[in-house]
Amino acid sequence: MTIDRKRFKNLFSLTGKTAVITGTGGLLGEVYAHALAAAGAAVVLTDLKRERCDGLAACVTSEWGVQSIAVGCDVTQRNDWERLREILCDRFTSVDILVNNAGFTNASRIEGYSDGFDTFPDMAWKSILDVNLTGVFMGCQVIGKMMTEKRTGSIINVASQYGVVSPNHTIYDGTGVSQPVAYSVSKAGVIALTRYLATCWGETGVRVNSLTPGGVFDKHTDPFLTRFSALNPMGRMCDRDELAGAVVFLASDAASYMTGHNLVVDGGWTVW
Ligand SMILES: NC(=O)c1ccc[n+]([C@@H]2O[C@H](COP(=O)([O-])OP(=O)(O)OC[C@H]3O[C@@H](n4cnc5c(N)ncnc54)[C@H](O)[C@@H]3O)[C@@H](O)[C@H]2O)c1
Repeated sequence: MTIDRKRFKNLFSLTGKTAVITGTGGLLGEVYAHALAAAGAAVVLTDLKRERCDGLAACVTSEWGVQSIAVGCDVTQRNDWERLREILCDRFTSVDILVNNAGFTNASRIEGYSDGFDTFPDMAWKSILDVNLTGVFMGCQVIGKMMTEKRTGSIINVASQYGVVSPNHTIYDGTGVSQPVAYSVSKAGVIALTRYLATCWGETGVRVNSLTPGGVFDKHTDPFLTRFSALNPMGRMCDRDELAGAVVFLASDAASYMTGHNLVVDGGWTVW
């Protein structure tokens, strides 16, 4: 058997591919947009409001010379996903990569988000599950169908270290940061949904993996920063750029025999 050297050379190339990324108005979506575009993909940037993605789309095109468009899409609304699908069909010959990144996070404001389990409000529970889990379900259903029809594609569902292990509740008191129960549950659900779809679609040519980031530094201050870092084997938070390699890897031919995997990028947090 000969080794396909040409394939090795282009292992991480995404030239000719189209990627859809949700939640690109936030901290990590911007990284995924630049990383996938740098590898050659055309990128479709989506968020609740299109204006959040307009500037980024222009920046990505001028920096990497790839097509980039901004589309408003509320991931909890099936109509929005259907409208996005129509735009994709009009503008692109295929959709090859879907990054379900939109998330209800500390940055999203809802009453009761920081409450402990005993008083956690139903409304916050529903809102978080709606964005973090139902949004991913709908994205996989609508965009995944386009992929299974073409018998090719890579879906990357963004989970969290707190979908793998429970938060250590001792580090949050008095820090302004919180990790609500619904967040952990929704992210564990994302990992389960990913595995379910990987086995459903194993023979269709569509791969479904999850990407699990650890805590990403975003101007965090003490005491949270020191407490968090002390619990991390690498002794620090993740720099957001450190997630770029993982998303390109999962999207590319380099991961062609990987499906149902949860790729953990957490500095070792979940190891001990
Ligand atoms: N930042 C971290 O430390 C970290 C760690 C682990 C996992 N994650 C996950 O990574 C993803 C991105 O995180 P981030 O730090 O960039 O968060 P962020 O809050 O900065 O960005 C999230 C984006 O999702 C968008 N969004 C929220 N609700 C939406 C909806 N209904 N429809 C469409 N878009 C919606 C927001 O407008 C925002 O632009 C999330 O899924 C988050 O749970 C983040």
